[in-house]
Amino acid sequence: MIIPNRILFANIPTPLEVIKFDGKSFLLKRDDLTGVELSGNKVRKLEYLIYQAKREKSDYIFTTGGDQSNHARATAVAAAKFGMKSKLFLWGKNSGSSNGNLFIDKFLGADISFLNKEDFGNVNQIMFEERAKYVKQGRKVFVIPEGGSTTLGIWGYINFIEELKNQIEIRNLRGIFSASGSGGTAAGLLVGAALSKVNLKIFAVNVLYSKEKIKKKIIDLAEGCILDYKLPCRINEDNLEIVDGYSAEGYKNINEDKLTLIKRFARESGIILDPAYTGKAFAGYYETILDKNDGKKVLFLHTGGIFGVFAKRTQYLSAS
Ligand SMILES: Cc1ncc(COP(=O)(O)O)c(C=O)c1O
Repeated sequence: MIIPNRILFANIPTPLEVIKFDGKSFLLKRDDLTGVELSGNKVRKLEYLIYQAKREKSDYIFTTGGDQSNHARATAVAAAKFGMKSKLFLWGKNSGSSNGNLFIDKFLGADISFLNKEDFGNVNQIMFEERAKYVKQGRKVFVIPEGGSTTLGIWGYINFIEELKNQIEIRNLRGIFSASGSGGTAAGLLVGAALSKVNLKIFAVNVLYSKEKIKKKIIDLAEGCILDYKLPCRINEDNLEIVDGYSAEGYKNINEDKLTLIKRFARESGIILDPAYTGKAFAGYYETILDKNDGKKVLFLHTGGIFGVFAKRTQYLSAS
C-alpha cells in the first residue's frame, strides 16, 4: 500500500455539529470551514495535488471548472500561497462585474481563458495543448483536471473517514450525503470507508452529470485509486447511491423552491448553502433523509461554496 504525501494547509478536523431544523436534529460536517479564501471540499484534495506540483517544481498550475468554480478559485489561492502562477479554463463568459469566485480569481491575478460549453467538453485536451506551448517556453506546468478529482486528489476524502472516526462512533452511522460534481469527494469517501472496513452508504446528489455518467466516474476513480496505490480493499458498488433529480434546473441555475429552503435553513441555523452544490444536495437530504428523521444516522456533508452565493445574491434576497 502506497500512501501519498501532502502539504498541510486545510483547517481540519472540521467541526461535526448537531443542527436542528424543522424540529428535527441531524449531523452536519462543516467542510465549508476548511479555510476562508481556501475553503470547501477542494482544499482537502489540493493538499495532495499542490504537494505533487511543488515536487515536480512546477511554476504554473492549470485547472478548469465553471465561471463560478469553487475548485478553480481554491486552486488559484493555493497556487498564490505556494509561489506558483495559475491559469483557469472556465466555462462561461467574462462578465464585467466579476462576482463571487470569479472576482477572487481575477483579484489574485489568475490568467483566465473563457470557454463555451462545447469547448468545455474538450477542456482536458485544450489544457494539455496549452501546456505543450508553455513547456516549449521553458515553463513547468502542472495540470489539475476538473474538481481535482484524480486518484491522487481523492486521498483528501479517504482521510476524511479517519477524521470522522475520531469524532463519532462510526459504526452507528449509516451514510454520508453530499453534492457530487466531478465525483472525487464521493469516490474518496467510498475508498476511505472500504479501507476502514466500515459499511457506509455514500449518497451523491448529481448536480452536473447524468446519474449513469457520475456513477461511472465515481466507481472508475475509486477503483483507479485502489489500483494506483495498491490498497487492500474492494469497492462495493451497492454502497453508492446516486440521488438523482435535484439539479433539473441545470448546474448554473437554482429553482425557487430550493432558494426558499436555503433561506429558511439559513435563518434557522446561521449556515449558508450555495446555489450550485450544497443547496441542491440539501434539498435532496431534506426530502429523503430528514423527512424520515434519519439525520442522526446519515450525515450531511457541507462542502462549501460560499462565494457562489454572491453571484446569485439578487435571487437569494428575493426568494420567499
Ligand atoms: C461546494 C462544492 N460542493 C461539492 C462539490 C462536488 O465535489 P466533487 O467535484 O468532488 O464531486 C464541489 C465541486 O465540484 C463544490 O465546489
